[in-house]
Order: sequence, then C-alpha cells, then structure tokens
Amino acid sequence: MSATADKTILRALAGETQPIPPVWMMRQAGRYLPEYRATRAQAGDFLSLCYNPELAAEVTLQPIRRYGFDAAILFADILLLPQALGADLWFVTGEGPRLSTLTDQAGFDRLKPVGAIHETLSPVYETVKILSRELPRETTLIGFAGAPWTVATYMIAGRGTKDQGPAHALMAEQPEVFDALMARLTEATVEYLSAQIMAGAEVVKIFDSWAGSLKGEAFQRYALEPAREIIAALKTRHPDVPIIAFPREAGDNYIGFARATGADCVALDNSVSVDWAAAHVQVDGCVQGNLAPHHMVTGGAELISETRRIVKAFSGGPHIFNLGHGITPDADPDNVARMIEAIRG
Ligand code: CP3
Repeated sequence: MSATADKTILRALAGETQPIPPVWMMRQAGRYLPEYRATRAQAGDFLSLCYNPELAAEVTLQPIRRYGFDAAILFADILLLPQALGADLWFVTGEGPRLSTLTDQAGFDRLKPVGAIHETLSPVYETVKILSRELPRETTLIGFAGAPWTVATYMIAGRGTKDQGPAHALMAEQPEVFDALMARLTEATVEYLSAQIMAGAEVVKIFDSWAGSLKGEAFQRYALEPAREIIAALKTRHPDVPIIAFPREAGDNYIGFARATGADCVALDNSVSVDWAAAHVQVDGCVQGNLAPHHMVTGGAELISETRRIVKAFSGGPHIFNLGHGITPDADPDNVARMIEAIRG
C-alpha cells in the first residue's frame, strides 16, 4: 500500500471524497491541554519550547495520543522565520509576541540573507525528523510557515495589531521597502518550507492570518501572488507534497484562490457560511475548517449540531474537518473529544 492509501488527510488532499472526513485542529498542541502546560513549564518559556526538538516533538504528539487526530502539525511559530532573518523576538506573557520594528530601508538592510535562516531554524527541522519517526503510520505530518504579508505585519509593527495599520502605512509611504521585504519573505518561506519537507513534512500549510485586511488589487498583489510564487517554487522542488493555503477572512477572495495559486486545499475561517463555501470554494477541490473555535469553550448541543452541519454541507467533496481558527486556551478538552465523536461516531 502506498503512503497515501492509509493516510486519510493525504487522500482528501488528493481530491478524494470520504464518508468520514479526516480531522485535526489549529493550535491542537496548546494551552487548553494540561500536558502542554506541563511541558512548556519544563522548557521554561514558549520560544525555548519551539527550539527544543525533543520537547517540541513531545507537545506535537500530545493531542495525537489524547484524541487520535488524523494529522499532527509541527510545533513551532510563524515568527521564528523573522527571527532567523535577524529580527529580535520575545513573547510577553498574557499579551503575545514582540519584535524589533522594521520601518525603513536601513531596517531592511539589517536583515540577514535568506541562506542564513537554517542556522537558527535547524532545531525545527530536527523536530520534524523526530516526528516522522515517532508518529503513528496513519497520521500525516504537517509543516507550516506564515505567509509573507502576515509575517510582514508583525515585523513592521513589532507586535500584533488590530488593523495592520503600520504595514499598510509602509506599503503606501515606502513601497520600495515594503516590496523588498515581501520579496525577501517570499524567498525565505520557500527555503524554510522546503527544508521542512526534506526533513519529513508530508504536507505544508501557509498561514495568512491577516489576509482579510487586504482588499482588491492589494489582495491580488500581496496575498494571492506571494502564495502563488511560493507554491510554484515548492511544486517544482517537491511535486508530490500537497499545500494548504489559509487566506483568513478573505471573503469573496476565497473564490478561485486554489485555482489561482495552485494550492491543493483552501482553509476557511468561520466568517463564511458553510453552504456558500461548499458552492463556491469546494467546487475547486479540498476545503478545511470553518467550525467557530468558541464551540470548544461552550460545547453542548450546539457544538454537536454545528459539527454535523459542517460535515454534511461538505460531504459532496474532499473535506478535512478543522476549526476556523486556533483553539483558545479556555477551551474544555472534553469538547474536543465530543467534536471528534460527532464526526466519526
Ligand atoms: O497549530 C499548532 O498547534 C502548531 C503550532 C503553531 C503555533 N502558532 C503555536 C503557538 C502554529 C501553526 C502557529 C501559527 C501562528 N503563530 C500564527 C498563524 C495562525 C493564527 O493563529 O492566526 C500566528 C499569527 C502566530 C503568532 C503568534 N504566536 C501569536 C499572535 C501568539 C500569541 C497569541 C497566543 O495564542 O498566545 C503566538 C503564541 C503561540 N504560538 C502559542 C502557541 C501554542 C501560545 C504560546 C504559549 O504557549 O504561551
């Protein structure tokens, strides 16, 4: 039997419609799990956990052991890449990431060349290697990176922002600097994902969490075009590795995104209606996502009915069950088991 035959995620990504969709969850290794909190405490802090291959592999495996998800996602963060390019990065407990800001040509000139990233990121590749040895044979290993636009919003502002204002300002006021940063990130993302694939990642996902703040021409130029370039370069080097794209809150721009970029699957946030997505996005191939993360907190009959509604709406085509965004730290671990039971039961 080929590797694809017993891996339900790879079958969905190859375009197969399955009676029971495979399932995994964004942020499935995270603070809602007591075993994650224990391992993070052992590592010291979040970044030390990301750069400790043994412990990063351990937290990746925890939700697989507990729930039997069909995929494991490498434990790391999208902000490790800017750090590898020379940005300072730290996390403030309870607030989120902080980075040195990049606001002009001099800031861009201080970035390291793409070839330098592996020096910082080699522990991540080591985590991937451990996981490809230790995962159950039916579990698919997903690698990932942030999309250039989303990563740029953090590098420019030095933190998460509500409206990505500083990045929009740099785009408008110093377009040469902004375009140079996007080009550097596009090239670095190809190198980073390619190294994850060579270490054993079987699928890669590109997270464009802030794609929704790009409209019209800007969406085409800074969300769609970089995704297309990254996917084309990866497909040349690794033609058999499926790619999931997540242009979060893209709205109407979800339509045709897979076709235009070459992605094998489009991940959907929970702002779009499932029937709309089945009619307009799943027509082009595999879709993933859409369950609102708050159901993992609130649970109850609504969790079950929403889960079933999504399974049914996407039952006519290739589908990977997932949330519309990451599970939150206040989620009840028992609700995850209830969701899986509603999908498979
Ligand atoms: O999904 C997984 O289980 C794999 C690991 C993963 C993490 N971050 C671990 C993490 C992945 C795929 C990411 C992606 C990521 N990181 C994104 C894109 C997806 C999204 O959520 O929109 C973004 C924007 C980031 C940047 C980032 N990392 C932020 C804004 C934060 C702080 C918010 C928060 O939840 O605390 C992080 C921290 C982070 N990344 C945590 C985890 C498990 C929590 C850190 C902790 O343990 O304290």
